[in-house]
Amino acid sequence: MKESRTSKAVTVAWDVIVKSMKSLGDGDRDVPLAQDLFHVMGVVKLATLLANKRGLNSEIVTITMILHDHGRILTGVWDGHDAIGPPLVRRLLERMGDFTPEEIDLIVKLTRTHRQKDQIGDPYEECIRDADVLDIYLGGTAGWTREVEPLREYISKNRRRIENLAEELGFRIIEP
Ligand SMILES: [Fe+2]
Repeated sequence: MKESRTSKAVTVAWDVIVKSMKSLGDGDRDVPLAQDLFHVMGVVKLATLLANKRGLNSEIVTITMILHDHGRILTGVWDGHDAIGPPLVRRLLERMGDFTPEEIDLIVKLTRTHRQKDQIGDPYEECIRDADVLDIYLGGTAGWTREVEPLREYISKNRRRIENLAEELGFRIIEP
């Protein structure tokens, strides 16, 4: 059976993660690597769910989520990870060799704009941003995020988005 592009993306992403793990300890990271990895696992599932519900291409959404925080995973730096990630993501996708230029442009664009949570984008941008916010919100309410204060700030900044998601998916908002 032919290996899926999502499965290949997981392998490619894992190579980057392992390389980064060897070169950078948690003391040099704004977010511990374990938290970043659990976050990626969370957003992949949430974005797939949202994509299916909203009639979007879940393969593109899933692959984007696997790669969307690579700028931070590789460098350990939160600020500007949405600018560092896109060229890296482009290189990885080009090297994988089974994406059209349009698909690469779309995934790269989604990586670049995933932090613009205060803006309303196209349905794909919204799916990525919503999944990102939802994972951090859910992680926060489950108590596994290390720093509560920045989390509260993040949630209040993205309140509107969380309220819309609560309505769309039918859950009740819990304060962390
Ligand atoms: Fe993220």
